[in-house]
Amino acid sequence: MVKKDYRAHVLAVPYPSQGHINPMLQFSKRLASKGLKATFATTLFISHTMKPELLGSVQIETISDGCDEGGFFEAQSIEDYLTRLKAAGSKTLSELIMKYKSSAHPIDCVIYDGLCPWALDVTKQFGLVAAVFFTQACSVDCIYYYAHHGLLRLPVTSPPVSIPGLPLLELRDMPSFIYVAGSYPAYFELVLSQFSNADKADFFLINTFYKLEQEVVESMSKVVVSPLLTIGPTIPSKYLDKRVENDNDYDLNLFKLDSTRTNWLSTKPPGSVVYVSFGSMANLTIEQMEELAYALKQSNFYFFWVVRSSEESKIPNNFVQEIGERGLIANWVPQTEVLANEAVGCFFTHCGWNSTIEALCLGVPMVAMPQWTDQTTDAKFVEDVWKVGVRVKVDENGIVKREEIERCIREVMVGDKGKLMKENAKKWKELATEAVSEGGSSDKDIDQFVSKLATI
Ligand code: UDX
Repeated sequence: MVKKDYRAHVLAVPYPSQGHINPMLQFSKRLASKGLKATFATTLFISHTMKPELLGSVQIETISDGCDEGGFFEAQSIEDYLTRLKAAGSKTLSELIMKYKSSAHPIDCVIYDGLCPWALDVTKQFGLVAAVFFTQACSVDCIYYYAHHGLLRLPVTSPPVSIPGLPLLELRDMPSFIYVAGSYPAYFELVLSQFSNADKADFFLINTFYKLEQEVVESMSKVVVSPLLTIGPTIPSKYLDKRVENDNDYDLNLFKLDSTRTNWLSTKPPGSVVYVSFGSMANLTIEQMEELAYALKQSNFYFFWVVRSSEESKIPNNFVQEIGERGLIANWVPQTEVLANEAVGCFFTHCGWNSTIEALCLGVPMVAMPQWTDQTTDAKFVEDVWKVGVRVKVDENGIVKREEIERCIREVMVGDKGKLMKENAKKWKELATEAVSEGGSSDKDIDQFVSKLATI
């Protein structure tokens, strides 16, 4: 029975990195706009970098990742970080749930990132509703599901791989932890561990929308035990559906935001700028940075390049002087605002899932240069399934040469195929808008989630 006057209280627990915080924070805002009370638990270390007053309808709390002073960089290794996160995260999440237990608003449901399966164990110890939130594409989640359950035999020895709901996948289309067997074993274990206890979760929430991944959503819905809901895209709703109040661009930047540089875009003609970014984690080699830099210069289009401050020393000497007015480099920008600017004609991207879905939903065609993890699979879909971009070819030494980069940029910006990609991108933007608007597939799935919580 619906308890009138009672707002169910959801606690969101993201994996503590930029690409996982952004979608869960936007989703929390959407839940708040639907009448739930939403609290967002970030780590103490991350809380030092944010401005709580900007998070609007979502309340902030902290838990610990066991690295309160330096976050990930305080740990000795990936394994060490994940061990600390699990131990300190479980303990402080329990304490947080306890803190609210005797308050006017006890927590009813924990929405946790699939990369934090320990949060599900804590949630169930308290008898609360648990929803696992998958930040990455449904296709990628499905591959990990099959790998975890031994339905995909590893290492893959005879590609292409056939998984229900997915196109045939060559090795290079698989997530990198699978196709470069043995790379980052701790991360590989982590992505598979999403399914170690997920059978106990009451909901599967996926950051995608139905029409984007219809076939795999259908096939995965048949194999998981709980309702699988598509709740995306979680990009700031002011770009698609204006019903969410206080929906700024991503409010919680772990890097110093340089918003002023985006003014440069308004001085450029529509569709004339190549926007380049590799997200929050990828590091290019010095050689690759040089190839990219000179490709951007040679291609003769305007370009706006995000180079995080930790990567800046890899920019070739004198490059900034050489490019003059043709290009601009910034350390961290409001990416959705940039992609929404009509001056941007192409997104040169590493294909992190957020970047990919942001570009799709803002109608921007892409050059895909995936680096690792899920990005290789996203790139396959960008090029071959959604047909909104072209994927660069890597040479025998693992480098993408400047001629190849230039060729791909040219194809998207002014080539015949580029025209088609732009039309397709516009179509995906319309479908994304439809999904999150009132009565759309994601809107209905979110309503289903909200109304179930209202009856507990
Ligand atoms: C990581 C993984 O690498 C990615 O593949 C996975 O799908 C999610 O977690 P990341 O590499 O940072 O994320 O890439 P991405 O998923 O694209 O997320 C980056 C986020 O930072 C995006 O939401 C993007 O809008 C934002 N961003 C990026 C900015 O706000 N400003 C910038 O200058 C660059």
